[in-house]
Amino acid sequence: MPVMAADHVRGDARIRRGGACDRPPGRPVVHCSGGHGARRGRQRARSATTPTAPAGRGRRAVIKAERKAGGPVLGDGFGEALKECWAAGGKAGHSYATVERDDGFLFTTDVAEYFDELDEHERHEQWVIKRAGGRVLDVGCGAGRHAIALAQRGADVVGVDTSPGAVYVSRQRGVRVLRGTVEEQGDDIGRFDCILLLGYNLGLLESCQKAPQLLSGLARKANVGTRLFGNSLNPAMTSHPDHLRYREENRRQGRLPGTSRMRIRHKNLATDWFDYLYLTPEELGELVVGTGWEITEIETEGQSYAVELTLTQAGRRSPTSV
Ligand SMILES: C[S@@+](CC[C@H](N)C(=O)[O-])C[C@H]1O[C@@H](n2cnc3c(N)ncnc32)[C@H](O)[C@@H]1O
Repeated sequence: MPVMAADHVRGDARIRRGGACDRPPGRPVVHCSGGHGARRGRQRARSATTPTAPAGRGRRAVIKAERKAGGPVLGDGFGEALKECWAAGGKAGHSYATVERDDGFLFTTDVAEYFDELDEHERHEQWVIKRAGGRVLDVGCGAGRHAIALAQRGADVVGVDTSPGAVYVSRQRGVRVLRGTVEEQGDDIGRFDCILLLGYNLGLLESCQKAPQLLSGLARKANVGTRLFGNSLNPAMTSHPDHLRYREENRRQGRLPGTSRMRIRHKNLATDWFDYLYLTPEELGELVVGTGWEITEIETEGQSYAVELTLTQAGRRSPTSV
């Protein structure tokens, strides 16, 4: 889910997207704080990818406590919003999701954008669709808009998504989808000619620590020559004071400045908190070093950009979680 938090306004003004933060001049491009060791414990405790609610009885206790306190119920907020929109024909004006950042910044979007036809996609995403093909893995496929556009152009697409609601909707729309993360898929999923991280899903790279693991894991679903397409907002292009403040706090906490810690709300539901990463192309270039991927093309559109990475060699890093 894009943070959708700022000053990027799409042509129809239906969607505002925003990024995280600027990098001050003179700083290293990728500044993973040297203080990681000291801070890691605290950061982990707050990490969004570490579920904030434990499994089983502990999880039920958290849900019960939130209900009692009148807070949101832990659940598939994004997927339920997609289901609601799908039931209304995928049309605008029926279903909304709100991104809540951990500084309290809120952004609401009409989820009908996730049902857009190809000619309604942002131009840099259309650029990707024209280049992708063959056997395609769509990571975080949502309601399947990119998978469908590519299948219509003759590609053989497999989606993966962690949201039960997204899996339900994209299957209803004819997309072959597997539930879960890429890391959870076995070798029988095979290897792909193209991999997609669209809808700003380069954000799933999450952090300096997670990015090489995910990229190396994706390299194992790929062959030399496979292309990975993703998009991001360039976080160095915002001047919004809330985001500038957030950037500074990220730095103070030892996180990349474009990190956005957030959860998705829909009605009384809220997902777990998670980290989503907005990167400058330079930061991305540094994060891919040693993973086997190289940036081969970039297409910019205002604050947004799409990137093509090509797998030039088997990944060398030894991931711990993939
Ligand atoms: C912003 S939406 C983008 C959906 C789609 N790519 C699009 O642009 O229409 C992000 C999607 O990624 C899924 N997602 C989040 N984390 C994921 C993960 N680790 N692995 C697979 N899917 C994930 C979410 O459930 C959601 O459907």
